[in-house]
Amino acid sequence: LNYHVPRTRREILETLIKGLQRLEYRGYDSAGVGIDGGNDKNWENNARQIHLIKKSGKVKALEDEIEKQDSIDFDIDFEVHLGIAHTRWATHGVPSSVNSHPQRSDKNNEFVVIHNGIITNYKDLKKFLESKGYEFESDTDTESIAKLVKYMYDNRESDDISFATLVERVIQQLEGAFALVLKSIHYPGEAVCTRRGGPLLIGVRSEHRLSTDHIPVLYRSGKDKKGNCSLPRTDSTTCLFPVEEKAVEYYFASDASAVIEHTNRVIFLEDDDVAAVVDGHLSIHRIKRRAGDHPARAIQTLQLELQQIMKGNFSSFMQKEIFEQPESVLNTMRGRVNFDDYTVILGGLQDHIKEILRCRRLILIACGTSFHAGVATRQVLEELTELPVMVELASDFLDRNTPVFRDDVCFFLSQSGETADTLMALRYCKERGALTVGITNTVGSSISRETDCGVHINAGPEIGVASTKAYTSQFVSLVMFALLMCEDRISMQERRKEIIRGLKALPDLIKEILTLDEEIQNLARELYQQKSVLIMGRGYHYATCLEGALKIKEITYMHSEGILAGELKHGPLALVDKLMPVIMVIMRDHTYTKCQNALQQVVARQGRPVVICDRDDYETIKSVNRVIKVPHSVDCLQGILSVIPLQLLSFHLAVLRGFDVDCPRNLAKSVTVE
Ligand code: G6P
Repeated sequence: LNYHVPRTRREILETLIKGLQRLEYRGYDSAGVGIDGGNDKNWENNARQIHLIKKSGKVKALEDEIEKQDSIDFDIDFEVHLGIAHTRWATHGVPSSVNSHPQRSDKNNEFVVIHNGIITNYKDLKKFLESKGYEFESDTDTESIAKLVKYMYDNRESDDISFATLVERVIQQLEGAFALVLKSIHYPGEAVCTRRGGPLLIGVRSEHRLSTDHIPVLYRSGKDKKGNCSLPRTDSTTCLFPVEEKAVEYYFASDASAVIEHTNRVIFLEDDDVAAVVDGHLSIHRIKRRAGDHPARAIQTLQLELQQIMKGNFSSFMQKEIFEQPESVLNTMRGRVNFDDYTVILGGLQDHIKEILRCRRLILIACGTSFHAGVATRQVLEELTELPVMVELASDFLDRNTPVFRDDVCFFLSQSGETADTLMALRYCKERGALTVGITNTVGSSISRETDCGVHINAGPEIGVASTKAYTSQFVSLVMFALLMCEDRISMQERRKEIIRGLKALPDLIKEILTLDEEIQNLARELYQQKSVLIMGRGYHYATCLEGALKIKEITYMHSEGILAGELKHGPLALVDKLMPVIMVIMRDHTYTKCQNALQQVVARQGRPVVICDRDDYETIKSVNRVIKVPHSVDCLQGILSVIPLQLLSFHLAVLRGFDVDCPRNLAKSVTVE
């Protein structure tokens, strides 16, 4: 939304498309834009029409579709213009142009909306609106929002009702999760956005110094007779720049990566905030004040660099992120692990560490790869904290109504910090009085804001849908936490020193593993036409097997299963024959002999496993045809090294099978729906 910053329509569309490309990892089955229509020089006349362009497929398909629009004058410039755009990950309705967003209220596009999330009561809303004569055209839940705003508008009690007021009324009727941006021909040059459960931020770009670093929240409790908030819409407290200098642009987005090339000054909205921009002024509204509400929203300066979200010389983000791991694990430890005096400082936990030390149980809760980081570190946490440690999949944890107590410490592991299942589990634990700790990679994310304390893993933005560097950084973060928990335990000092020395050596060992890339590519050439791959291991490496299998499933669409080698004889062995591809992870730790047994059981069934093993494990090396030799680390850190060959393998398999590594079918990076 730009005010008094002249832009051609082409520039506006380019900004929207670029923003969508930056967000494409969030969903990419269809996309759409809504811009002010008409080709009139007067911006206000233009904004009394809305032009929608939508297309199924990736953002590129939308870009091509835009080029085909003959009726659009691309070179006309505007002083004020509001455009909205969306890239979709389908929940309700197949990917198609009619189901993509913006969704509209009617054929005149009076109100249009883009939405992330799911409206769970949309069927009731639809039934109600249909009974009032509103005709639906799509299969989406979102369309009911567009129609509901129009219903509120059609039934308004006064002509000067504000757009924000309408939206406030709408969200009172919505159940489920959402982040919304709305635009209307009745409110030219105005935008309203709101969230509940889905992430949403506002970037502000102005030539002038912002006059405040906080936006106050306006509460409806002081409303006037017409239902508007008592403070005037253009109250100077809501103005971020000198009133006479109104050149300003606002960017609403679900992720900072979409706005970072324009501004690093952002405001993260809270659930049920309704933010409105009217005549260049931003205001944030809430229906009523809740206990503990902060009365203002801070304008934060992001540290994100544009170059961090670019691919550089790599063919995909995933490849770049795999190769970044020597630096990303170092960044996770930077300023936290002192390799000289063997101390660990986690600033984000400092205020709560006493409480954590007194707790009765640790519960790690997560989904997908983040869950595997919990599985991978469970043993070292149990060893160093001497506490019972549960590792839970967020959805199942909630389904079971798992008992949680006030003296539990619950960890929420999430790269994005926005995964709906994990967020719901966080709220569940908070309600039960447990101390909540976030381990996330995204500053300002819902999980990092809603937890009592936490550790930012500092891996840098991860864009490839299949998580890689976030896994190894979560792993390192949890190991650092375990070390912190036993700092005063005399009996553990030698073990602590061994692990800390191991952490120091990690970046170089990861670099060594990355030199195996070509060898692993050759292995991928042998495997890529197979239907299935079994990955077996135990102890510290069970998580590696689960994570390796998940990577293969996610991006190659081959069937793959991570198998606990201890369970092999209880079922999975039936799958093994001379044709079934098997990868085994066998490291020289306390499970070594048992892993050798599993290897023999596989070989005895004519299986010909590829073994990931220690590079000086001559016994294994001579007993099988194919090995991937990795350098040796401390037992509890070895999982960081054993997973990297499998990350590389899945990457090469996907490339050889001709798939888009960064955008696997049917998946999205950040799943903000339950
Ligand atoms: C999605 C992604 C996975 C990810 C999981 C948890 O399913 O496709 O790659 O591991 O969410 O994401 P989080 O951001 O919470 O770590």
